[in-house]
Amino acid sequence: MDQTLAQACSGFLLDQTKADAAHQLDHVQRVVKLAVSLAKQEQANLAVVEPAAWLHDCVSLDKSHPQRHMAAQWAADKAVDFLKQIGYEPRLFSAIHHAISAHSYSGNVVATTLEAKVVQDADRLDALGAIGITRCIQVGSQLGRPFYHSQDPFCQRRAADDQAYSLDHFYTKLLLIGDSLHTEAAKREAKRRSDFMRSYLAQLGSELEPMND
Ligand SMILES: [Fe+2]
Ligand SMILES: [Fe+2]
Repeated sequence: MDQTLAQACSGFLLDQTKADAAHQLDHVQRVVKLAVSLAKQEQANLAVVEPAAWLHDCVSLDKSHPQRHMAAQWAADKAVDFLKQIGYEPRLFSAIHHAISAHSYSGNVVATTLEAKVVQDADRLDALGAIGITRCIQVGSQLGRPFYHSQDPFCQRRAADDQAYSLDHFYTKLLLIGDSLHTEAAKREAKRRSDFMRSYLAQLGSELEPMND
């Protein structure tokens, strides 16, 4: 990992207005590690992937914000301004800008380069596995949402509604993420993490069963 870049970006991000519980600096640090690992496996350009991963959420708007679809675009602009200030290589700016603006679901920008695909895959992987479960619960708690529907926790007889129950987010989004990934390295890791989430659901089911008798 590029330590100079890591230090400059962490300092810059600490200055940012507070994001929600699932988008704090620890999320960014995990995405950087994942992105670097995927980039090495996929032979993507680290000089693009690493700054894009550090800065991908430098503008982060919460889900209810009317201009949320613009967040990734604004983050890309702000990231390039910052990289100019620290004297990063200008010839990489457009590739970094694209990787940041294409990372989110809500921005609707298609990732066209390997580097953009790697950053998007890394960000999505952080929604899966043990950390994904934790983030899902953190966000739900912050919004005051009940964890599960007491009569039908696993959406067997009703449509999943993640506005109403945190656990429903597994069915509306999280368990579908694996199919949206681009790189083979990320797909392998998504399978490992999704399998863990399915065993979590099975265990939870076995614990809730007596309550539903
Ligand atoms: Fe984001
Ligand atoms: Fe992110």
